[in-house]
Amino acid sequence: MHGLKTDKLPQHLAIIMDGNGRWAQERMLKRIIGHQKGVETVRVIVEECSRLGIKYLTLFAFSAENWLRPKTEVKALMSLLKKYISFETTRMIADNIRFNVIGDRDELPPDVNAAVQQAIDRTAGNDGMVLTLALSYGSRQEIVRAAARLAGDIAAGTVAADRLDENLFSSYLFTGDMPDPDFLIRTSGEMRISNFLLWQLAYTELYFSDANWPEFTAAELHKALKVYQARERRFGRTSDQVNKRS
Ligand code: FPP
Repeated sequence: MHGLKTDKLPQHLAIIMDGNGRWAQERMLKRIIGHQKGVETVRVIVEECSRLGIKYLTLFAFSAENWLRPKTEVKALMSLLKKYISFETTRMIADNIRFNVIGDRDELPPDVNAAVQQAIDRTAGNDGMVLTLALSYGSRQEIVRAAARLAGDIAAGTVAADRLDENLFSSYLFTGDMPDPDFLIRTSGEMRISNFLLWQLAYTELYFSDANWPEFTAAELHKALKVYQARERRFGRTSDQVNKRS
């Protein structure tokens, strides 16, 4: 129906959900209304990704830098997140989705953190799609934290320094138990990575949609995935090598 090849979907899709504020301001509405509409898009896209059989979906919901926004907006976003997580847990269970969070959870208000923990615990046994929200997440902070933890383990003698390679380092990141994203979508026409998954995006295919997040639909997702399916992923090799012509 959507014309997608089911055997060539990204295993891991990451999304920077941008443009809630602009969507609202263009309609003379408060920014928070844009975030509320954004939550509806989250519901639609989570359901569609799960239905399509995507194994990992990672959504950038709140960056480490977003704490600098006006207090009222931060408070409203935290409240929306808590509501979303609490209300959606039942649906996640029904859809066999496992909930996960990456980021500095200690920075989250205790009630949000409690809702996060409850959703993680209640969906821990699910083996369908892994839905990861990046909350209070910054990639440079994640890399520094990984380096500090690794240095600690080396100093404590639990890890030998000469074992250090890319795989070992990756295992210290928040995403240690996930494959790297195959495809990254950013909405709202901005062409930046904004401190998101810097290490993990090394060979990820990038896609920028002009739609603001509240107007990003399942049809827009299909359009993006078709572009992904037409890409040739070479990982540094030549096209001939990838197609086994040489
Ligand atoms: C970017 O729009 C979006 C955010 C900073 C937050 C994303 C949050 C949601 C989609 C709602 C809550 C999330 C979940 C998972 C329930 P922006 O405010 O930066 O927009 P602008 O660039 O137009 O100002």
